[in-house]
Amino acid sequence: MEMAIIGGTGVYDPGILSNLREINVQTPYGAVSPTVGEFNGVEVVFLPRHGAGHSVPPHRVNYRANIWGLRRLGVKRIIATTAVGSLNPQMRPGEMVLIDQFLDFTKGRPSTFFEGGPQGVVHVDYTEPYCPELRAEILKAAAQFGYKVHDGGVYVCTEGPRFETPAEIRMFAKLGGDLVGMTNVPEVVLAREAGICYATISMVTNFAAGMATGPLTHEEVVALMQENTQRLRQVIMAVIGALPKERHCSCQHAAPKADHFFEEG
Ligand code: HPA
Repeated sequence: MEMAIIGGTGVYDPGILSNLREINVQTPYGAVSPTVGEFNGVEVVFLPRHGAGHSVPPHRVNYRANIWGLRRLGVKRIIATTAVGSLNPQMRPGEMVLIDQFLDFTKGRPSTFFEGGPQGVVHVDYTEPYCPELRAEILKAAAQFGYKVHDGGVYVCTEGPRFETPAEIRMFAKLGGDLVGMTNVPEVVLAREAGICYATISMVTNFAAGMATGPLTHEEVVALMQENTQRLRQVIMAVIGALPKERHCSCQHAAPKADHFFEEG
């Protein structure tokens, strides 16, 4: 099971995977229950980030259990989806953005596997937080279907679960943010610590607070995601079909001396 999809808001079912079965994986952070299926003979793990029926808010997602569990299953690559608000007038609702950087404005989340102590202190490089090989394949697949995808974007991760104030959005824009969401940190951080290639396809669901015409609602975010889930799935499945088995990026070596953090027992 080398390939996983983490489905964000609006992406709750594994779509066109066949031979579906739910499995249970124990981790030091709690159990996770992803669905495993097949696509063109490739085994794919599907994990809805917010749990079945979207019951877990962004600040309470068990990110460490999710990523640990996927690593334990042998996952080497993750494609994640995320709904985002846009601060950038060029990135419009209904468009996809292949983010390449993040700004971390989360507050109280466990964000690392590397907690020090006898296991040692580890610092990981995040010059290129998102896997270049996965990103290139996603761009190719989207182009093949004629979908508009922005190549690059700065994702601002807020703590949530509330939406932002217009003043916060103006600040994020001044700092260089393009998009705002509540989940990519620590997910991308932990994937890199675990040596897993990771890329996120962000779907713009709305212009951010103060740029939109009225108050924001979760319902409008979910509705726009539902309209666009089919396109996201198409792109992800094309990528899964096209990826070479071997990885040619350096993601697997992001934390070369940290394998002992993932040993069990
Ligand atoms: N803010 C934060 N998260 C979001 C938004 C937003 O405007 N839209 C979708 N997820």
